[in-house]
Amino acid sequence: MISELKFENTVEFARMCDMQDPLLDFRNKFIIPETNGKQQIYFLGNSLGLQPKSTKTEIQKVLDQWSQYGVEAFFMGDEPWMDYHDKLTKPLSKIVGAKPGEVVVMNQLTVNLHLMMVSFYRPVGKRNKIICEAKAFPSDQYMFETHIRHYGFDPDEILIEVSPREGEYCIRQEDILNAINNNKEELALVLWGGLNYYTGQVFDMQSITEAAHKAGAFAGFDLAHAAGNISLQLHDWDVDFACWCSYKYLNAGPGAVGAAYVHERFHQDNTLPRYAGWWGYEKQTRFKMEKGFIPMQSAEGWQLSTPSLLLYAAHKASLDIFEEAGFERIQEKRKQLNKYLWFLVDEVNRKQEKPVIEFITPRDPESRGSQVSMHMLQKGRFIFDALTAEGIITDWREPNVIRLAPVPLYNNYEEVWQFANTLQKILSKV
Ligand SMILES: Cc1ncc(COP(=O)(O)O)c(C=O)c1O
Repeated sequence: MISELKFENTVEFARMCDMQDPLLDFRNKFIIPETNGKQQIYFLGNSLGLQPKSTKTEIQKVLDQWSQYGVEAFFMGDEPWMDYHDKLTKPLSKIVGAKPGEVVVMNQLTVNLHLMMVSFYRPVGKRNKIICEAKAFPSDQYMFETHIRHYGFDPDEILIEVSPREGEYCIRQEDILNAINNNKEELALVLWGGLNYYTGQVFDMQSITEAAHKAGAFAGFDLAHAAGNISLQLHDWDVDFACWCSYKYLNAGPGAVGAAYVHERFHQDNTLPRYAGWWGYEKQTRFKMEKGFIPMQSAEGWQLSTPSLLLYAAHKASLDIFEEAGFERIQEKRKQLNKYLWFLVDEVNRKQEKPVIEFITPRDPESRGSQVSMHMLQKGRFIFDALTAEGIITDWREPNVIRLAPVPLYNNYEEVWQFANTLQKILSKV
């Protein structure tokens, strides 16, 4: 691995890093979109990950099973559908740092957040408050609002939102811990994002969990931007529950099947309320179709409905790639690519008379993942459009933020260099 001190702003250096990259060939496992016959520099894995070439094959296998066996495909053929879930939970549990039985692949993120709220938001008397981040992703805000109203409470009285301090973008860890501590008599739940979608800030989930537990509350996380991106240790951190989507860093396709983690201590806890469906029923006796819900003794006990095998197949295609690459190697490359990007953008910024870019993502490498959010101090929209015209795909967030995420499985050092070099050229014309 090349130390940051030795980084160089030349295409030769970037190419040399690529030559030394053990994951270089993994890029060939993905379909890179093209503009005018030229591969894009696609930096939007934080929004929708790219399609593995194997996705079609895996989906085709499910279609073949279906055409050959009809409903019997649940029990017959090379990959009987009844056991398909296990093919996903093993690799996925490694990615999120859980035991396989603690992970369930089901539904989609917002639905799973509601389901987890049913189990883990249990207001009793004055212990009914929820701590969350201010300006959480809108779907989370609507989930909180409607879920809380469903109990007949006023969201303004229940939700305690922690904001960044005046003039700052990121939320200080001490402010989160203080909010938990200051509300410890009334706190029922802390439900936080693992990595903020706007700033790219990674939160210290272990300390948040510890503080929530000390206050007598549950701790859960929305890991939409964290799963498949950063290293997680949900079980060891003692997190109670978490949910994520699989269409971003997990490359499982648009509207992919989501997933949830439930710590094993709750699997046999009959006092925990939940919404149930037949797919969460004890597997051995499910087809007896008897009255009275008996949950599977794992996170799978939270399933409601027959799974979508086509979506499972798309997820499997991507997880196979993660397995082959190894999550540790992915992490190493993620950190290096990201540091190289910062090194280059810092240099671009230094060359300007007045700084053009202010990073709103934390500078501390432990507090960021793949995503970098840049607050554009001048001509932001013009710069974004010019990058797009050059086939460099990032995204624009109002009022003035460009977000981009070099993803270790399919992006490379040369692309990061091309980005900074193009940015430099655009700025020379501004
Ligand atoms: C942080 C966060 N939470 C929730 C959602 C909503 O996810 P879904 O549409 O899969 O329910 C998203 C979507 O991007 C997100 O980024």
